[in-house]
Amino acid sequence: MDRDTKKRTVPAIKKRKGGIPIVAITAYDYIFSKIADEADVDIILVGDSAGMVFSGYENTIPVTMEEMLYHLRAVARGRENALLIFDMPFGSYQPSIEEGIKNAVLAMKNGAEGVKIEGGEEIEELVHRLTLLGIPVMGHIGLTPQWIHSFGGYKVQGRDEDKREKLKRDARALEKAGAFSIVLEGIPASLASEITSLVSIPTIGIGAGIGCDGQILVIHDVLGLFPGMRPAFVKVYENLYEKALSAIKRYAEEVRERKFPGEEHTYK
Ligand code: KIV
Repeated sequence: MDRDTKKRTVPAIKKRKGGIPIVAITAYDYIFSKIADEADVDIILVGDSAGMVFSGYENTIPVTMEEMLYHLRAVARGRENALLIFDMPFGSYQPSIEEGIKNAVLAMKNGAEGVKIEGGEEIEELVHRLTLLGIPVMGHIGLTPQWIHSFGGYKVQGRDEDKREKLKRDARALEKAGAFSIVLEGIPASLASEITSLVSIPTIGIGAGIGCDGQILVIHDVLGLFPGMRPAFVKVYENLYEKALSAIKRYAEEVRERKFPGEEHTYK
């Protein structure tokens, strides 16, 4: 099977259903966007996880539209081929459909090629309206972080029959409303596979097993840039926190010992 090696579009991503898995990753600034794009990922998500890994908030609830648009503009400048999706932060679509549309339009004006919204049946009408207006929507169901206070923490969802059925209804509702893909987060792999075969649009998993049409991870987790507790589904491909710490310690040591700047770093 041929891999896409050029500009990813919404229709191209939709066609990947059941094909080569879709690779998605988050980015919040110019340089990591550039690296992700150069690594040939399919989708870059300007995730509201920025609130935690970039700004140091305890969760994603405090993140504002203003903060997210700042990240979006930086990421847009670093990316060439990946599809650029903007995560609608808490408060940007909850007050009303009109507010959701207004903020999604703002995201598109600032370089997004689509928006991601947490929720299922609850946001069906908004997804439908946005799709009609030419704003592609990526759904997001399961362990949706903006719901943590209702869930009572970051708990795997869809373990009991009622919740399994609800998540299946959510996925169908999003598909019917016109979403072009759905993120499945923090649900059992069997349920994720079931949902994946239930809908005709790609599913992108995070903590949802191998049966999805693609995978997404937070870039700071992939690169080992975020210290502290890591969910079991995260695979750390490099330990950049340790490497950065050691580099900055060496720099500090050399300044203190007057080893830096050396001859080669000095204007004659
Ligand atoms: O905010 C985020 O980074 C996300 C993804 C990890 C799905 O929502």
